Amino acid sequence: MTFTTGTRVGDTTGGRLFEAFLKPLDAAGLGEFRRIVASGARGRVLEVGAGTGANLRWYDGAVEALSLSDLKIAPLLTLRAGRRGLADPVEADVTALPFADASFDTVVSTLLFCSVPDPGAGFAEIRRVLAPGGEWRFVEHVLPARPSMARTFRRVASAWRTLAGGCNLDRDTVAALRAAGFEVELLGSGGGGAIVAGVARPSRALAAASASV
Ligand SMILES: C[S@@+](CC[C@H](N)C(=O)[O-])C[C@H]1O[C@@H](n2cnc3c(N)ncnc32)[C@H](O)[C@@H]1O
Repeated sequence: MTFTTGTRVGDTTGGRLFEAFLKPLDAAGLGEFRRIVASGARGRVLEVGAGTGANLRWYDGAVEALSLSDLKIAPLLTLRAGRRGLADPVEADVTALPFADASFDTVVSTLLFCSVPDPGAGFAEIRRVLAPGGEWRFVEHVLPARPSMARTFRRVASAWRTLAGGCNLDRDTVAALRAAGFEVELLGSGGGGAIVAGVARPSRALAAASASV
């Protein structure tokens, strides 16, 4: 399927296949986590790793301005952004964001940090672009809390990483966020603890250290 929107042309087939693949997970609870996370966004909002724009439907009137970015822009994202009257998505690595310090009140990410090679660099960039008092609302799949599931995830992680373009099944992203100086409030978890939704806020110590740089 090829769509033309203004000067933009793109094939949305890959994006629609990706969404079909995720559909069972969305129905099993991921979709609800998307709603919880995105509908809580407010003010100037940046979504990183926005994919096909699966979260767009949940942004509401509390959002003053919405910027979308991804390492590789999917035509479906551009199409959906255009339909909502949003600016073109920005091609950007979450570890090197082309946005000014403290320029967003909310950052949103869903299913992103499983595949970022240097998560710590991404955490630091999100912290940098967050305004004081801002929050990062996220959904991630992580190493499950249930020991039997965790063993299985660890066993297949290497093969899955190769098959799924660098996606890591065995990351404890919430622990990594806390170790990086974020305070994390969990909003929900599902699938035996394999999917978590939460809000991360720079701790006072992290915010003070950043301000003094
Ligand atoms: C599993 S998909 C999730 C897409 C979307 N957030 C969702 O929930 O449907 C991961 C997305 O992260 C993007 N991505 C991967 N590494 C990235 C990076 N270093 N910086 C920004 N985006 C990245 C991919 O291009 C892809 O769109």
